[in-house]
Amino acid sequence: MKSVVISGGGSGLGKELGALLTNKGTHAILLGRTEKKLIDAVEMIKKNGGEANYYVLDITSHIEVEKTVSEIVKRYDVELLINNAGVGHFGPFLEATNEELLEMFQTNVFGSIYLTKSFLPLFQKNSAGTILNIISTAGLRGKKNEALYVSSKFALRGFSESLQKEYDGDAIRIVNAFMGGMDTPFWDKSDHISDKSRMRTPKEVAKMILEELPVKDEIVIESKKKTSVC
Ligand SMILES: NC(=O)c1ccc[n+]([C@@H]2O[C@H](COP(=O)([O-])OP(=O)(O)OC[C@H]3O[C@@H](n4cnc5c(N)ncnc54)[C@H](OP(=O)(O)O)[C@@H]3O)[C@@H](O)[C@H]2O)c1
Repeated sequence: MKSVVISGGGSGLGKELGALLTNKGTHAILLGRTEKKLIDAVEMIKKNGGEANYYVLDITSHIEVEKTVSEIVKRYDVELLINNAGVGHFGPFLEATNEELLEMFQTNVFGSIYLTKSFLPLFQKNSAGTILNIISTAGLRGKKNEALYVSSKFALRGFSESLQKEYDGDAIRIVNAFMGGMDTPFWDKSDHISDKSRMRTPKEVAKMILEELPVKDEIVIESKKKTSVC
């Protein structure tokens, strides 16, 4: 059975991608820092007849990423890596702290790069593999009160687009997904969004991504409702 690795697979979009992919017969390996969320997501998949397991992993540590990935590749036949884990801090630029800046770049950019660097040699060896980078419409254009988050997503987009060119003509695919706001726990500690009911659900977005994944290298899912965030 082929496996998909999903960073941030314990909640929001990552959890929904895991649920849909395991419905189609793929085994899911969920990564994240909070074990309880990962256990719940794996249980949900198993209850629906799918197969999944998890690894507790903080992707901001390249040492931990390398260690975990080397364990994963010994046990599973990974064909898809979804760099989905991400954090956001919002508000006026001058009020942002250096800790917030670091957390966003270490997670959204460095963490995705560490995972990509660890899985690419396997994909090269297999002459097959897809890396799906969950970016955001914040990786397409600047937004008010999102300067640092947008910067991190532009960085991830630059990384990903460059790899697309580097691996052009290879059997390895790199796919970028740019979506607008989703109603997920991403917003739980933020007052940046006043009305989450105007957003798409993560399930809806996961479905749209997976429909386009086989045929598109750039997946753009704009907000259907009038909200300019994320
Ligand atoms: N929600 C939106 O409006 C929106 C819109 C466009 C794009 N996005 C992007 O979509 C992706 C998924 O976000 P979401 O909306 O589904 O929010 P979410 O439910 O908060 O999911 C983010 C996941 O990332 C994990 N994570 C965070 N830091 C991590 C770390 N250092 N190591 C490992 N895992 C980590 C979190 O789990 P732990 O905290 O347990 O580690 C969490 O499960 C993110 O990249 C986000 O930027 C979100």
